[in-house]
Amino acid sequence: MKHQVIIQQLTLEEKAALMAGKSVWETKDYTEKGVPSIFISDGPHGIRKQEGEGDHLGLNASVPTTCFPTAATLANSWNPDLVEEVGSALGAEASSLDVNMVLGPGLNIKRSPLCGRNFEYYSEDPYQAGKKAAAMIRGLQSQGVAATPKHFAVNSQELRRMASDSIVDERTLREIYLTGFEIAVKEGNPKAIMSAYNKINGNYANEDKRLLRDILRDEWGFTGFVVSDWGGSNDHVLGVENGSHLEMPGTTTVGQKEIIDAVKNGRLSETVLDERVDELLMVVLDLATQEKRSVDYDYQHAIARKAAADSIVLLKNEDQILPLDSQKTLAVIGEFAKNPRYQGAGSSLINAKKLDNTVDSLKDYDVTVVGYAQGYQRVDKADEGLAHEALSLAKKADTVLFYMGLDEISESEGLDRSHLSLPQNQLSLLKKLQTVTQNIVVVLSAGSVVDLSWISGVKAVIHGYLSGQAGAPAMLDALTGKINPSGKLSETYPVSLSDLPSSREFPATGDYSLYREGLYVGYRYTDKAGLAVQYPFGYGLSYTDFTYSDLAVEENGIRLTITNTGSVAGSEVVQLYIGKEASALYRPFKELKGFAKVYIEAGKSQEVFIPFDAYSFRYFNVETNQFEVEGGDYQIYVGASSADIRLTAQLAKTATTDLMPDQSVLPSYFSGQVAAVSDEEFAKLLGRPVPVESWKVGQELRLNDPILKMQYAKSGLARLVYKLLRHLLKKAEEKGTPDLNLLFMYNMPFRAIAKMTGDMIDQNMVAAILMMVNGHFFKGVGQLWKAFRAKNAYQKQLS
Ligand code: BGC
Repeated sequence: MKHQVIIQQLTLEEKAALMAGKSVWETKDYTEKGVPSIFISDGPHGIRKQEGEGDHLGLNASVPTTCFPTAATLANSWNPDLVEEVGSALGAEASSLDVNMVLGPGLNIKRSPLCGRNFEYYSEDPYQAGKKAAAMIRGLQSQGVAATPKHFAVNSQELRRMASDSIVDERTLREIYLTGFEIAVKEGNPKAIMSAYNKINGNYANEDKRLLRDILRDEWGFTGFVVSDWGGSNDHVLGVENGSHLEMPGTTTVGQKEIIDAVKNGRLSETVLDERVDELLMVVLDLATQEKRSVDYDYQHAIARKAAADSIVLLKNEDQILPLDSQKTLAVIGEFAKNPRYQGAGSSLINAKKLDNTVDSLKDYDVTVVGYAQGYQRVDKADEGLAHEALSLAKKADTVLFYMGLDEISESEGLDRSHLSLPQNQLSLLKKLQTVTQNIVVVLSAGSVVDLSWISGVKAVIHGYLSGQAGAPAMLDALTGKINPSGKLSETYPVSLSDLPSSREFPATGDYSLYREGLYVGYRYTDKAGLAVQYPFGYGLSYTDFTYSDLAVEENGIRLTITNTGSVAGSEVVQLYIGKEASALYRPFKELKGFAKVYIEAGKSQEVFIPFDAYSFRYFNVETNQFEVEGGDYQIYVGASSADIRLTAQLAKTATTDLMPDQSVLPSYFSGQVAAVSDEEFAKLLGRPVPVESWKVGQELRLNDPILKMQYAKSGLARLVYKLLRHLLKKAEEKGTPDLNLLFMYNMPFRAIAKMTGDMIDQNMVAAILMMVNGHFFKGVGQLWKAFRAKNAYQKQLS
């Protein structure tokens, strides 16, 4: 043990207290014994440091800080150096505000485009997500603060996010849902990691020994500490025993008592507790001695702008309407041109230090603007007056710049979408604009996939995603040709949502979320199924053209030449995919295994080398229980997107094992037709029966059922509370601003009441509340009183 001297001085009570926060954002300290406290804040695309009382999801305003583009945006840059630069700016800002640890980056896999938090995550592809997360972690930690990659793992839906069990087969778990974290840990070396709310195959992530000890620590070499997601701890004692270090937000005496009792009654060994304290101290002591950084907010803004610019994706550019011709007149239409949609809602919401908008920024560009019209209400409501004004303006200009996108309520933490459409009022205005002009350039703002079925009616579409506080001028730079767009999509845009296999059961409404599609997430599915898409993974246009030539496969990687054949300089994202046609395993057709972003002057060529690495040829073998390489020929695909392969080659590899799993029983997975995998076949993939929901309407609610199930409660009062909650949520929806605290409650299980109320309520009191919900009112009241008195008694003893 590294900190034996400190640990020996700590009493059992003190060690127990260290396993939970002392407040919503701070760890417990015993300064006289050499244990400092650290301050934690949300990120990951800005620092959300709350002033005064912390309240988790932000009733109290946070300190104004720089709002950088969100993860979904940064991913489109395909530029790890840039992401590292953003991380370093973020880290410096955190340090300057006395924040020691930033809760991010988020790198869950975008299993479905409907997940409400996709804007906070990088990609549908684990390699892409892992590389970006590792870069962000390196950047953050270069400034003496800890990064906290989250949410570890298999956390891909918001509905019932704390009361959902992700049922996933071992190979898919390892190859899709853990690989990104593996890269992030091995290449970023984070000092902390946040366990996810959900269960994985029956175990809460925060209590999963195999995940937190065997894989994370022993296999990947993680040396930091594990923090629960806020309110996500289930059984605190089991969490500590199995590798979790810090229960957040603080449960103070309640959590402390649980650990003390467990040590006293032999459920938890004191040696294990000491080990956790030691591992926690490793990080806490290191962070507390870091020197404080300072920031220049103009520099921070400039980095935010650079990051937004490098991440812009040009989706369509007919008749080369872009870059804009300065001789032509321009009408600027759309609410988002004045009040940008630049970040997502939830725990990552930043109180931006400064906010640029298009209308005001236009004066810095050589353009002739005939005027601005709002065009539509931000919240989806018809407004004929606004539409009329916009049409009159459109008629006066050669070109219309139409700002469209998702509104705040459409994508948020705590809320999955039910469709991919843009708000109806925007779509209906677009239709009207098409009757008065041919020249429409759509500027999109949205943090996740949107339906683009209207695209044939416009000349150009350029996508900024959620581009942070300086996104507006970055976009104008691209529109006017000051920069050449070079972003590429990090997720597949399907023609229709129903094309995707995950859409059948997303979000899961019951206890189990069945990952029937296995490895076939995003392009891995559409590619294999030969399905047409609106825009493929890796896609993005430029104002110039690139040709690919001279592919050579070497022992350690591939080498090729890229030539810029156009008339302007630009950057190209070269992508390496690897597949294996003849295989004893079912496989996606090809998978991303490397990429490089290169800047090339017009008319010039450049040699590009993309190395192979530990991930290039491996698959997870469920027989040997480790990653192996299958022997035989591999196909090497090099292209400008997953659907635009320019060069191919072959490479032979030798097998690392003869022990192959028998997959002949998985026909759907071999063909890739996984849109409707039967229970029988899914069970074969899992190697065990598919779990079946045991709870039925009419039965009593359980501790780990979500509050939203109170609609079925036996107690009329509980049903009334549920109705009130629904009513308030609806009200918030109408206002257009998601109420995060209500959404949090709606999806959380009863046991989290104790986890989210400091030391006001403990688990015995929750059990009593549940009795009342289940119709045993008087018995429940009696129990509640008894539990309340018992809690007061032990709190007195502990204080
Ligand atoms: C979110 C985390 C966040 C935490 C603290 C949770 O609800 O899932 O991503 O870091 O709150 O705000």
